[in-house]
Amino acid sequence: MPGIVIVGAQWGDEGKGKVTDLLAEQADLVIRFQGGNNAGHTIIRDGETFKFHLIPSGILYPGKICAVGNGVVIDPAVMTGEIEELRHRGIDVSGLRVSANAHLIMPYHVKLDTAGELKLGSLEIGTTRRGIGPCYADKASRLGIRLQDLLDAKILRKKIRAAMEPKQQMLRPFAKDPELDLHTMVETYLTYGHRLEPHIADTARLCWEALDADHTVLFEGAQGTLLDLDHGTYPFVTSSNPISGAATIGAGVGPGDIDEVWGIAKAYATRVGAGPFPTELADDLGDLLRERGGEMGTTTGRPRRCGWLDLVALRYAVRLNTMTALAVTKLDVLSGLDPLRVCVRYRHPEGAVFDEFPYHQSILHTAEPEYEELPGFEGDIGECRREQDLPSEARNYLAFLSDHLGIPVRLVGVGPGRDQVIWMGEEAPRLRAAA
Ligand code: IMP
Repeated sequence: MPGIVIVGAQWGDEGKGKVTDLLAEQADLVIRFQGGNNAGHTIIRDGETFKFHLIPSGILYPGKICAVGNGVVIDPAVMTGEIEELRHRGIDVSGLRVSANAHLIMPYHVKLDTAGELKLGSLEIGTTRRGIGPCYADKASRLGIRLQDLLDAKILRKKIRAAMEPKQQMLRPFAKDPELDLHTMVETYLTYGHRLEPHIADTARLCWEALDADHTVLFEGAQGTLLDLDHGTYPFVTSSNPISGAATIGAGVGPGDIDEVWGIAKAYATRVGAGPFPTELADDLGDLLRERGGEMGTTTGRPRRCGWLDLVALRYAVRLNTMTALAVTKLDVLSGLDPLRVCVRYRHPEGAVFDEFPYHQSILHTAEPEYEELPGFEGDIGECRREQDLPSEARNYLAFLSDHLGIPVRLVGVGPGRDQVIWMGEEAPRLRAAA
């Protein structure tokens, strides 16, 4: 089954990095298809910690092709920094390929992101302030700067000037900022171009060649379904499409190239930034989940909002992504909590009941979760490696999710370590990573 998409099933930070890392071991090519350095994941390998924001974590496997697709927005300072750091630590980065068509985050995008948030005041989105939104906006306005533009100084200068022209008014407060000086920017970005040139490639073609040869390609999503620009909780979303369908656009393949869609969900729910979150626990229990789950943002260090698992939202994510399998992460965090609550429907204060995720934003803002209670489990499950090692209540919890969602739970995370996972079921998974 060569084409496998990995998507976040909630609001991001579900632990996609670890699952991608496990599946990547048997893949031939890993490609990111959207987002930018607003994402972040931590991989613990042989006791060493690696933090990535742009480069797919598959880079840790020698000889694997790791690509950054056309749908990703790249801050070249971040990317060259990650390459340098990996080299410094003795990791071979020769397998890194970056799409020539990927758009670049420019210094003015970062400034505009912050300025835009400040202007919104109490209505702010809570962005990561990495310039993601303004960069995608320029892409849609056809004022974007692409990686390939770094290879031609004349074109680069012309395009930067044209892109900055309509932004003069908003950029006025930064008029004296040396980063925004046209000459400095062109020189700096040309330098990035020289450093990235060996990695620039036609990444869509790399995908076609791999798929046509029946090799396994992993399409690695960032953020999560409910942060999707079209289908998430707009406007409290990111500016790209983290859902599975976007893998086709952001990598350059067709829908027929996708064979499996793995959704990654935590055993509970978290969200960073503003926006509706019906199952949020703004109490001691929420604090406990945050503390136990280490729920602080990898990118911005912000504390994450925590709550019970929301099956209404998860069912929506299953359908929207045509998910074929679910990986449930951080099950260990729920140990000792009794009962475990899962939201199975929403109720509007005026009485209406919603079994399906409501399309109307106002309803979502006021929706009250209705919970089903399941018996909790106790003890340290971090050493469990087979389904039958888990306490029966933990297995019941997973079975309840699987029944409710109508898809199998294939992988369960029971601790932060790479080996702290359980491959579910009797049948060996098609893609089994070595423990
Ligand atoms: P932006 O992507 O920086 O524009 O931020 C838009 C929204 O998406 C904010 O609520 C961010 O907190 C959220 N967001 C962006 N990237 C991530 C991520 O990787 N994990 C979780 N939330 C994210």
